Amino acid sequence: MDVAMIDDRMLPISELDRSYLDRGLYFGDGVYEVIRSYDGHLFALDEHLARFERSLREIQILGIDIEDVRQKVLSAFEHSGYVNARVYFHITRGCQSREHLPGQDITPNFLVIVSELEDCPETKQKGIAVSTHPDWRWKRCDIKSLNLLANVLARIEAGKKGASEAILVDDDGTITEGASSAFFAVDRTEKAVITRPLGHDILSSITRAMVIRISEKAGLSVIEKAMTPAQAVGCDELFIAVTTKDIVPVTQFDGVRIGSGQCGEITHQLINEFKALLREVSKS
Ligand code: PDD
Repeated sequence: MDVAMIDDRMLPISELDRSYLDRGLYFGDGVYEVIRSYDGHLFALDEHLARFERSLREIQILGIDIEDVRQKVLSAFEHSGYVNARVYFHITRGCQSREHLPGQDITPNFLVIVSELEDCPETKQKGIAVSTHPDWRWKRCDIKSLNLLANVLARIEAGKKGASEAILVDDDGTITEGASSAFFAVDRTEKAVITRPLGHDILSSITRAMVIRISEKAGLSVIEKAMTPAQAVGCDELFIAVTTKDIVPVTQFDGVRIGSGQCGEITHQLINEFKALLREVSKS
């Protein structure tokens, strides 16, 4: 008979909990989103849902009602009672016995997890250390897929070096993005922020789009170009951008101090602009 063993427990396949057969587990066959709330309001929900819908389409998980996803996300968030929350959700292609080719009759699985999120104002001032790592990911990093092994390995290596984010470097020697963040540099002389242009090699980060919006509003120019680590280190300021933390200054890059070793003035300005954007959004 077909059997399974979970740790030390032997059981017939027929008694195996369905969640052990999720294609997300075997193949990372699914897509996800992470949203956060500020003061009781989910931020950029429409943008996240639009990206989620696109990711689903790109991996051909069809027939999902995105309004139903919205309602489920809102309902879980409200149920949590958290004011500042991190809302993770994913859809996998479904459950079946392990076959690469998906069965015709499987139905997608949805999961949402809401947890409390705490801000760390000290990090916003002191900044973080980052270290570079080769970008070992696949060629469709624009899809927010569950396949994150390369990102995880890069983060483990960064952690060993005392860095809290890994900055991924492509085969051509240019920075793509952080293992779980967008990456920006600041040229104070040119009054410009620099970031890699969108493409299949990076995620279309929602926070990146917000940073571009507030930079332009603040009269900064936005230069979308790829940079090498050496060029990044030569910049006046560096920062990462991600939903869960918005803008975080990078004050050490591969062991080299950036600027004064504290949050730079333009990064500081953008952090304040971001707060203003949040106030604006919460009023509307
Ligand atoms: N990560 N690039 C990568 C590879 C990411 O995984 C993320 C986010 C970002 C920033 O995207 P956004 O601004 O839309 O959050 C960029 C999420 C938060 C995660 O995996 O937990």
